[in-house]
Amino acid sequence: MKTIDLRSDTVTTPSAAMRQAIAEAEVGDDVFEGDPTVKKLENRVAEILGHEAALYVPSGTMANQVSLRTLTSPGDEILCERGTHIVNYEVAAASALSGIQLTPIDAPDGILTPELIEPFIRPENIHHPNTALIAIENTHNRAGGRVYPMELLDRIEELARRHNLKYYLDGARIWNAAAYHGIPPSEIAKHFDVVSVCFSKGLGAPVGSAVISSKDNIKKARRIRKMLGGGMRQVGIIAAGALFALENNLERIPEDHRRARMLAILLAQSGIFKIDPDEVQTNIVVIDLPLQIKLDTFIDKLKSNGLLVVPFGASRIRAVAHLNVDDDGINRAAEILMETARMEI
Ligand SMILES: Cc1ncc(COP(=O)(O)O)c(C=O)c1O
Repeated sequence: MKTIDLRSDTVTTPSAAMRQAIAEAEVGDDVFEGDPTVKKLENRVAEILGHEAALYVPSGTMANQVSLRTLTSPGDEILCERGTHIVNYEVAAASALSGIQLTPIDAPDGILTPELIEPFIRPENIHHPNTALIAIENTHNRAGGRVYPMELLDRIEELARRHNLKYYLDGARIWNAAAYHGIPPSEIAKHFDVVSVCFSKGLGAPVGSAVISSKDNIKKARRIRKMLGGGMRQVGIIAAGALFALENNLERIPEDHRRARMLAILLAQSGIFKIDPDEVQTNIVVIDLPLQIKLDTFIDKLKSNGLLVVPFGASRIRAVAHLNVDDDGINRAAEILMETARMEI
């Protein structure tokens, strides 16, 4: 039987139609700004997010690092939540490559508020780092795909503007946040100076992310991308997959949310796992294991039984619904989780 892969929404593979779009892509040298497919993608994503311009980059990590460097100078400090991708999963790139100090703030459920942030904004003083930017991750991966209430994004923006700070969104999963609220992504993006998005997560493209902002910021970001080695040549060949994903896979994101919730409901009904389906807001399901179950062996046994998930803490696993898993796949995943757990307890 085929293995069901719920490790991440990054595991999707291109459909025949996406491959066709890739095969037919018109290309040119993008470092000379001569790739028509990349231009089309950049214009389209800027339009969807309601900003002036965009820059295609190879990964979400590079999108974050290009964005942070665009908005700061060495010696600056960024305020962000402790569980964010930039703090935990980017090899300390902001400090190593750009001389920026990340100051992580603890927040219940991973969601920052102006009240949590404001005490960390430093007054001007020769000893202090210069607090320069507030970074938000929405949806928040480590917080189980949690979504910021719109009212909070507004109030944090007010705080940022009042203190003359830049406001940045790691919107790798902005598509999921927008689908959760039932609003266009531009309603979220409009709050921020710079937004990054991923094409290779919920949208299902094989490669790529984008940085979206004003024309001036994107001009600067383009130089930084080149410095980081992200200037690519006939890259329309992969940008075509991202463009296809943007045009064809945005509308179906709510299906992933429904399936993630379906998995949570099935597991909650089993009585084996501690899980509250109401906590599942988007496509990410975080599953707490019963005490008797050992994380590593459980993940290995799931794998032998045909299900891939990732560890997500000492006694937790993460399963993510995506483009390549249907209702049957979710039902089967729930069965495998329950059957495997029953053998362990
Ligand atoms: C919120 C968030 N930002 C950025 C990234 C980085 O993306 P990439 O793996 O393409 O570097 C990820 C990856 O999972 C992510 O979850």
